[in-house]
Amino acid sequence: MAILPLVIEPDARLHIPSESVVRVDDAVRQLLNDMLETMYAHEGIGLAAVQVGVHQRCIVVDVAQREGRREPMKFINPEIVEKSEAPSVFLEGCLSFPDQYSEVERPERVTVRYLDERGEEKTLEAEGILATCLQHEIDHTNGIVFVDHISKLKRDMILRKLTKAKRLGLFSSHPEGSATM
Ligand code: NI
Repeated sequence: MAILPLVIEPDARLHIPSESVVRVDDAVRQLLNDMLETMYAHEGIGLAAVQVGVHQRCIVVDVAQREGRREPMKFINPEIVEKSEAPSVFLEGCLSFPDQYSEVERPERVTVRYLDERGEEKTLEAEGILATCLQHEIDHTNGIVFVDHISKLKRDMILRKLTKAKRLGLFSSHPEGSATM
């Protein structure tokens, strides 16, 4: 396993949709393991392959990470097949947007179809923070980032801060009640 370098905004790579995985092989399984190690190293609860510069539809999630436990989940070609009318609001961060947080409203529950690491088709119903995290990561596979869901004013402010932080070197803090994904 290896910790991979993160792609940090501003970076055009984050805004390009990823390709579907055509064959679930050892290279894909290796990528997923490396992504998990990278996510844990940065105390994130989710990571998409595009965030390590790989444009393949692979995401990893571990929402138990917030409570100091480990329950890694791996998803290949994940897609949302159903979502609730009811919304939920969560203070989101992103490993590609260090130290930047914003409340984002998304459906409270989703059903996700995906391939597991043996290439078998699976379906998962999720709610709460898992549903939020899955939607955030699946957005990444479509070239969408969390600030695309907030006002232009707020988005521009975050981009200005990141451009400056990238120039000066990064630091990290996590507001209470937030999660980085
Ligand atoms: Ni993210």
